Amino acid sequence: MNIQEAINGAVNILKESNIKTPHLDSELILSKVIKQDRKYILLNLREHLNKKNLKDFKKLIFRRTKGEPIAYLTNYKEFWKNRFYVNKDVLIPRPDTEILVEQILKIYDKTRKIKFLDIGTGSGCLLLSILKERVNFSGTGVDISKKALKVASFNAKLQHLVNRVKFYNSDIDKFFLGKYDLILSNPPYIKKLDLKYLVRDVALYEPSLSLNGGKDGLSEITKVINKASNLIKKNGKLILEIGCFQRNEVVKKLKNKSFYINKIVKDYGKNDRCIISTKI
Ligand SMILES: C[S@@+](CC[C@H](N)C(=O)[O-])C[C@H]1O[C@@H](n2cnc3c(N)ncnc32)[C@H](O)[C@@H]1O
Repeated sequence: MNIQEAINGAVNILKESNIKTPHLDSELILSKVIKQDRKYILLNLREHLNKKNLKDFKKLIFRRTKGEPIAYLTNYKEFWKNRFYVNKDVLIPRPDTEILVEQILKIYDKTRKIKFLDIGTGSGCLLLSILKERVNFSGTGVDISKKALKVASFNAKLQHLVNRVKFYNSDIDKFFLGKYDLILSNPPYIKKLDLKYLVRDVALYEPSLSLNGGKDGLSEITKVINKASNLIKKNGKLILEIGCFQRNEVVKKLKNKSFYINKIVKDYGKNDRCIISTKI
């Protein structure tokens, strides 16, 4: 069977399973299997696929029909300017989270030298993207999930950043190390009861540890604010990603811990997504 025939077959199977982007998904999955980019696939449609590649391709297409996200099948996701390794132990980096990177780069120019902490670092996408952009920064990532930290450490190696980063496996509640100029976090913020209403790909496959914000969706954000209040230097910045309807409650919690609200930034869908605050 050649590439064209394999892709056509996969597209039909994915269409039957109501997968919205069957062509793209088939090409990305085949790219992963034959270790070539999509351009190669499109330029070599008549190339014969060997038995092993065909078998691996069919297996991954089958997993896609069950809703497994494409990033877990290909083991990568682009975020900001880099490609990150991902697996089922970490949240797949989201475009909305890039807003945090954008805002941080606006606040701190290239000459600044600061120490920052990323709470709930997951794949390390935020922490490592910022370190890549700001060579004088040093970063610390904390995560409650040991498996997530393995992924983050692997990404730090891929990005050649191991010398400027430290990782700690800890519940943020129990983390006491250091004082930081900047603390950022994209904590889990979905209400526990709403988890089952998320789209299938997310609900069934992404780690609940990354999504579950407890009964009111605010339990982890609250921990982050309380802990950041102790770990941050005076005049240091706390930058948080929040859920669509959490703005007012989060602002209240921040003010209670003596954070001044600098700015609330909307995401691409015009929802409040990021709060920038300063410890006074
Ligand atoms: C929404 S994900 C964010 C991952 C990554 N920073 C990103 O933006 O893609 C939240 C992360 O927080 C971690 N986490 C959840 N509760 C935590 C806690 N109490 N202490 C430390 N990390 C926690 C999860 O394991 C997960 O990796």
